[in-house]
Formats: sequence, C-alpha cells, structure tokens
Amino acid sequence: MCGIVGAIAEKNIVPVLIDGLLCLEYRGYDSAGLVISNKGLQRIRTTGRVAELAKKVTEHHTNGFAGIAHTRWATHGEPSERNAHPHISGHESRIAVVHNGIIENHEAMRKRLQAEGYQFESETDTEVIVHLIASNLKKTDSLLKAVSMSIAELQGAYAIAVMEEIHPERIVVARNGAPLLLGLGEDGNYAASDASALLKKTRDMIYLEDGDLAELYKDQYQIYQSKEGNLGQAITRPIHHSDLTSDDIDMGPYDHFMQKEIFEQPSAVANTLEMVFNAQSVSPGLFGSAAESIFEQTNGLLILACGTSYHAGLVARYWLETFAGIPCIVEIASEYRYRDPVADAHTLVVGISQSGETADTLAAMNYAKELGHLHSLSICNVAESALIRQTDLRFLTRAGPEIGVASTKAFTTQLASLLLLTIVLAKMRNRLSVEHEAKMIAALRHLPAALQSTLQIEPEAQEWSQQFSEKRHALFLGRGVHYPIAMEGALKLKEISYVHAEAYASGELKHGPLALVDSEMPVVAIAPNDQLLSKLKSNLQEVRARGGELYVFADADTQIEESDNLHVIRLAEHAGILSPILHTIPLQLLAYHVALVKGTDVDKPRNLAKAVTVE
Ligand code: AGP
Repeated sequence: MCGIVGAIAEKNIVPVLIDGLLCLEYRGYDSAGLVISNKGLQRIRTTGRVAELAKKVTEHHTNGFAGIAHTRWATHGEPSERNAHPHISGHESRIAVVHNGIIENHEAMRKRLQAEGYQFESETDTEVIVHLIASNLKKTDSLLKAVSMSIAELQGAYAIAVMEEIHPERIVVARNGAPLLLGLGEDGNYAASDASALLKKTRDMIYLEDGDLAELYKDQYQIYQSKEGNLGQAITRPIHHSDLTSDDIDMGPYDHFMQKEIFEQPSAVANTLEMVFNAQSVSPGLFGSAAESIFEQTNGLLILACGTSYHAGLVARYWLETFAGIPCIVEIASEYRYRDPVADAHTLVVGISQSGETADTLAAMNYAKELGHLHSLSICNVAESALIRQTDLRFLTRAGPEIGVASTKAFTTQLASLLLLTIVLAKMRNRLSVEHEAKMIAALRHLPAALQSTLQIEPEAQEWSQQFSEKRHALFLGRGVHYPIAMEGALKLKEISYVHAEAYASGELKHGPLALVDSEMPVVAIAPNDQLLSKLKSNLQEVRARGGELYVFADADTQIEESDNLHVIRLAEHAGILSPILHTIPLQLLAYHVALVKGTDVDKPRNLAKAVTVE
C-alpha cells in the first residue's frame, strides 16, 4: 500500500528517493511521484512504475538537497497523474504533501476548504490535507504548528511528509495509524514507511508512535507529541539499530521474491524456532515475561487476522482445541470489528499478522480491548510494527523481510509459532505429558529438514501448472486441519495467477459445489494419511463419478493410485502434527508455476498491496 520516502541531506537526495521507492514497490502501488526543493518545489509524477518516474527525473535533470516521494495505491480516485502524490497547495508559500492512509472526513473538509477558496485538482482524500495545512499556515508562522493544528482536524489514518517552498531546509512528518519511521544518517536525515527503503543510507531508525510529529533537518531532528492541535514538549524516542541489511531485501539468484521466499522456508522456520532447538521443553516466557500469569487466567482464545494470517489462525484452532483443550474462535478481523460479539474478559485475544500494520487487524484488536478482553498477544514478523507494540504479549516470527505480496514464509513461520503456543498451553492445562512434549519438540526440530525435502516436489508441481493455466476455475478440497490449508492454496492460486479458486471442506461437496464439477474444473485435494483419509477418499469418488479431474497431494503412505483423470504428487510419509505445514509447500509451488506460465506479475499481483494499511 502507499509508500513514503523523505530525505534531507548535504548532497543530492534524488537517488535516495528513487532507491527508497524501488524498495517500497513490494507494498503495491499504481502511480508514483516526488517533489524536490530546488529553487522552488519541482514536482514529477507518473502513473507508471518507479522506473518510469526515474526516467522522467533524469530527463528533467532533477536534483536537490531535500525532497519527499511516494508510491500511491489508489483508494479515492483512479490511478492517474492528477491523483498521484505529492499534492501541492498555496501560492506565495507552496506546500507539498505525501500521504499514506485514508482521511475519513475528507468530504466535509473538502467542502469547507472549497468555501475558503481552495481549488481541488484531484479526487483524492489527501488533497484536503495539503489545503488544510496551507489554510492553518495563515494563522501561524510555523509549518510544524500548522501541521499539528491540521492533524487535529483529520479523522482516519495517516502518515504524512510535508515540505514548504520557502523553507527548503526542513521536512515535517506525522503519523497516526499508518507506519512511519525516521532514519538517522551520517550525511542527512530520512523518513520512510518501512526500514527497507533506507537501508542503503542508514540502519539507525526511530519508529514514530501514533500522535508523533517530527521536524527533520539535514543535521538534526526533533520529535513532538501533538494533542488536540497543541504541540507538547519535545520528546525522545529510542533509536533502533536495524539488523536488516540491503542483502535481506535482495532477490539473489532467484527470479522472483516469491520463489526466494518459498525456498527460504526451511531457514525461516529454523530461525523462528531457534530457541527450542536446544531445549527439552518450552516455557510460557517465550511469549513475554507476563505470559505465565496471563495464560493461567486464560480460558479461551479469540484469534483475529486477515487473509493468509487468518488461515494460520484456522489451523491453530484445530491444534489448540485438540491438544490444549482450550476453546478457540477465529475471526476475520474486518468482520469482527463491525459486529457485536459477546466478550469474555479472560479470553486471550491473539492478533496474527505478517506486517503488523494491517488496518483491520489493528482496529479489531483495539475493539476487542474496548469490549472488555483483558489481555492480548501478537504473532507478527515485524519487530517494530504497531501490532507488536500494542499487545501485552508477543511472539516474533523470524521469517525475515517478506517482499512478495503473496505470503509464503510468513505463513509457515506463523504456523510454527502457533504450534509452540499450543504446546505451552497444553502443558499449563496438564494435557501434555513430558514424553509427548518431547515428541512434539523433536517434530519441530525436524521441521526445517522436512520442509527442505518437500521443496523437492517442485518439478512435479511445475508439470501440473500448464494444465491449470488453461483453466478459469479450480476447486481445492481438504478436511480437518487441512481444510484451512486448502483455503490457503486457493488464495495463493487466485491472487498471483488470477485463476478463480475456491476451497471447500470436502464433506461439503455434495451440499452444493459438486454441481460445478466437470472436465473444465480441476479439483485439487489435500490427502494426508490421517484419520479423515477414508472420508476424503469417498469425497474424491464423488468428483470422479462426475467426470472431474483430480490433482491430489498425498502422503507417501496414502493409498491413492494414479489413473485417468487422477494425478498424484506424493510427499514423504505422513508427518503427523507437522502435516498442514508441509502440505502448504506444494500449493505455493503450484500457484507460483501457474503464475509463471500465465506471465502475471508474480511479486506484485494486480490490485493488491503487501501491507494493507487502509480499510
Ligand atoms: C496473502 O498472500 C495476502 N497477501 C494477504 O491475504 C495477507 O495475508 C493479508 O493481507 C494479511 O496481511 P498481514 O499478515 O500483514 O496482516
């Protein structure tokens, strides 16, 4: 979703802005632009890729010591040059703004500002911000104060960067509900939506909090907390030295980030589970110092998440109820936040998110707190994200940066973390013997190796991909804990190859979807050798009897033989509790190869964004 980069330094910062935008491309966008201060504000925008913007910048010989840049993911108004950021207002002292987020009261603000005489050039909600700041700047001589007064009037989520023509020595930034950090360099200061955009310049970062405003100069910066339009005292925020390097966000020998991230799963899971590799048992402390006392009071779990993270929650529900005997509800965050659920104070709220910035998940977590849930836990891949910072307990998946829009290693590391949570809760509820715990830990230790060998099926998945690329629809079937894996397989296929795919619990087939089955509808089945296999086999017979073509991912010890219209890819022998994690891999590989055959933009599928920071 929209990305922001700002830079103010002793030398030309245009390359920093362009490099930064390139690093933020993965978030998803449909237009880009920048403003550079050089004898006035120079603005360049494009509906194309950042490479197109870079070309225009070169053609115009644009350079300067201060600038703000943006990738826009359209929400209000089509993707067009007119709607691309930065937006500019004012005559004598022009102001430029870039914005990530959504201004909910933009219609009322637009009317008010139009009545004041401001003319709008775009359909965006962002343009009200720039005119509002220009309007407030008539009442004060300080840009910082004008921004502070303006954000007090805005409802919604934002991260903004602002420049003023007559004061090119300064950039003002502010955040509320959308990510923004400062980068402190040797030769200048920077701001960006995420750390990856600044790694070539600095690894010293300050993560701004909601309500923070900051003023950046080339050799200093100052942060303030703004309350109801009043600038408080200057405050300090801790400086974090990022462990990331620019290599972490490099594609290396791979053709796509998604491919790299699929193949990184053994090491991503090994990193996530590092602390249990040498242990004989796992302790609640893994989730935070207060975990033991909170888990003692916990009598149920409410998992809130979106998309792939929601699927991880659905898998966890099977584990938590089976092994820990604890009731677990899993809800789509965007639904939960707008209904009237009955809250139980001692139901632990668990937010799962790769980015930790998903607007719906953050809002749902806050809503659960308002409703009276006492404690919360986050499972997240980004250490300084809003989600991690707002929960009582936390577990950091250590998948490393995930750049491809399609979530892969984030999902399998989430599952590994949720398995640890299951073990801890099962033990605390006296549902797990020492021997059983040792067996589960041994299984987890084996997981990276098991993932590595599962990746070997790639050539077989690739062989199937041609057939799927010729179809318009596909059905994915699973049972029990593998039903959410079927959902994840269908999501992967549709989001990157644009083949319409739906997942069903296979027992549901004859209650409706069987009507869709014919030779044009490939049916993918996840067929582990578990206690539901015989049920699944009957469901597969129902498909065959209707002329359907079956593509089955089976365990080596599953008795399903290839025949006409029945294709089988075999994994290793049944992996017990690890099975849903391992069965995810072939589905990711299948989706990836179908997308390759179809020639879609694998890492940046159309209309989608990596971090969904708006509703
Ligand atoms: C998955 O491939 C998607 N890109 C998407 O469903 C994603 O999982 C969802 O938007 C939630 O994101 P989060 O994990 O960052 O909260």
